Amino acid sequence: MRNFVVGILFALIALAAGGWWCLKQGYVNFGADQRPSSIEEKFAMAAMDASIDRRASEAKNPVAPTEDNLAAGAKLYLDHCAGCHGVPSNPESEFARSFYPPVPEFFKEAPEMSESQNFYVIQHGIRWTGMPAWKKTLTDAQIWQIATFLGNVEKLPPAARKVFGPQEGAAPAPMAMPMTH
Ligand code: HEC
Repeated sequence: MRNFVVGILFALIALAAGGWWCLKQGYVNFGADQRPSSIEEKFAMAAMDASIDRRASEAKNPVAPTEDNLAAGAKLYLDHCAGCHGVPSNPESEFARSFYPPVPEFFKEAPEMSESQNFYVIQHGIRWTGMPAWKKTLTDAQIWQIATFLGNVEKLPPAARKVFGPQEGAAPAPMAMPMTH
């Protein structure tokens, strides 16, 4: 029994040392032009979903989806987020696919999380991705407005769609968004 425990301990130490050696030798590629492996995608996504479930409040979004609020949310989105997350005229950009992991493109696929979860993600960002924490540059009221906009991105009224200008052939420059307000 004693040998068995020693064996297991030894195997664990060898595994940790081997892992550390691989890292120190530079075998892990940190380039953003890699595709996340399916294992990494599965584990990282499950961990992130669980982290958001644990931390996001269940507060009800105080900003109602009126035409005015959706237009204001669209304007904030256009100024701060569209450069990465896309616009109706260019929902799938090469730029969005140049991140590791790639940026979710909201005009191709609406966000799946609830508005209060989106509020949490926008406030705090997602580390090791390109998603910044916005709590120091946007107020809570602005973040709720954007969350309302994202929750209704598939059914925007004309006033909100107008914010994005003419829909035909108007692709914005990738980094056209100012990062602060
Ligand atoms: C510099 C690029 C960049 C900017 C600017 C940016 N994001 Fe992101 N965002 C990302 C990336 C990359 C992810 C994906 C992270 C991941 O897959 O875990 C992301 C993820 C998200 C998510 C989670 C989506 C999901 O379903 O998993 C939300 C919500 C979001 N962003 C909203 C916003 C909002 C709102 C703004 C503007 C206030 C914004 N982002 C600005 C890069 C950006």
